[in-house]
Amino acid sequence: MPGTSEEFLAAYPEYAITARLDELRATEYCYLDSNEHVYLDYAGTGLAALAQYRAHTARLSEACFGNPHSENPASQASTELVECARRSVLAYFNAPPAEYTAIFTANATAACRLVGEAYAFGPAKRYVLTSDNHNSLNGIREFARARHAPTRYIPITGAELRISEQDVRSALQPRMRIGVRTSAKRHVRRGLFAYPAQSNFTGVQHPLEWVDLAHDYGYDVLLDAAAFVPTNALDLSAVKADFVPVSWYKLFGYPTGAGCLITRREALARLRRPWFSGGTIHAVSVQGDWYSPADGAAAFEDGTQNFLSIPDIDYGINWLRGIGIDLINLRTRCLTGWLLDRLPTLRHDNGAPLAEIYGPHHTGGRGATVAFNVLDPFGCVVDERLIARESAAAGLSLRTGCFCNPGAGEAAFEIGRPALLRLFGKQITIDDYLKALGLPTGGAVRVSLGLASNIRDVQRFIDFIDETYRNRPATVDGLPPRERC
Ligand SMILES: Cc1ncc(COP(=O)(O)O)c(C=O)c1O
Repeated sequence: MPGTSEEFLAAYPEYAITARLDELRATEYCYLDSNEHVYLDYAGTGLAALAQYRAHTARLSEACFGNPHSENPASQASTELVECARRSVLAYFNAPPAEYTAIFTANATAACRLVGEAYAFGPAKRYVLTSDNHNSLNGIREFARARHAPTRYIPITGAELRISEQDVRSALQPRMRIGVRTSAKRHVRRGLFAYPAQSNFTGVQHPLEWVDLAHDYGYDVLLDAAAFVPTNALDLSAVKADFVPVSWYKLFGYPTGAGCLITRREALARLRRPWFSGGTIHAVSVQGDWYSPADGAAAFEDGTQNFLSIPDIDYGINWLRGIGIDLINLRTRCLTGWLLDRLPTLRHDNGAPLAEIYGPHHTGGRGATVAFNVLDPFGCVVDERLIARESAAAGLSLRTGCFCNPGAGEAAFEIGRPALLRLFGKQITIDDYLKALGLPTGGAVRVSLGLASNIRDVQRFIDFIDETYRNRPATVDGLPPRERC
């Protein structure tokens, strides 16, 4: 296995093509190396280039921006930039404006909520989702439940923690398949199918072909692209998902508090919002007790938009375009491959492995997120709280826990439904909960790579694990109680 950086470059010669990202790291992302910081949490948030902050300041210094959507010049200046950002979002995902629109939200979670609360769930309109999902998608089941819609989870199976297509088909097929997509048949709607293009736990990439598959079975599709798009291209003219939530900070770090629901206009028109608010209506009467919603995206953008930050999305998109998402994909794929090569080679002196990886051990059909636990020489899991504390002290930013994806965690740690049902409604601490499930730890360690990652980050991380945990027995002494999962 390639251990040194020279061996890495020999094993992944295509990495050399990404040298431009080393230049950017030294200039636009210089705060990493000037602080000796090893940033390994791109699935948590992407990082911003200094140019993005400069552009924000320059824009605000040059003009006066007012609350959008009125006639005055300050307002017009904001409206123009917000609409420019909207066009830029659609162009970036190759989403034809006649077919798609983009709704600005606070984040991907808010985009999911817009769909969940307005979707026409009912006894005959189900919610089907993969067990590998972020809680922002799991939570939609409560909207479905409130409207008496059946919810069905599709299990995670096999050593790579993927979802089998056969299981997807049988979950989507309660009775019979609708067959070829004709406009007459497609209006028979069975419900909503939600899955992530990339798991934020294991990094598994679920097939984008499932969008068409689910359409064939009569489902609308909520494709969670939040963890996928920071390192992968998504072409919505080919992948015609109905609802696509994203958080912009995950792509380029800044601005925070800005996301999007990119949505097919036809699917959007079928949503029924449970309320109206400032900005979302054409007209409303107090005495008449009626309202008429605005058209398209405007009906879903509650109150005053984040008009000073939305234009930064346009800048961020152009920044990514300038680098090229395929270059970022290539670089992170090489580094992920090296990480996956090296972690399993780490050994205690007695020959026992130092790490257990959850998910695929190779770069096929996965992204740049790797979840694992550290094992001691006797095969016991090293408590993730210890790793959180010691990695932080060593200047590494990584993640520990279950990453808001309980389904992937339950599959990784092989926790069965009966054990989980026994704990239903029990008011116990997280530590007692883990004990009752027989779990040695509260989750996993997650390392995720992104556009500013380099060879040294991976090297320093591997050295940290090897030097800190080799031959060291696991202990929980001195660790604070867990407050949440
Ligand atoms: C796959 C996935 N979906 C949804 C979300 C929710 O994103 P946000 O917290 O920005 O709303 C995340 C966040 O980590 C995620 O990784």
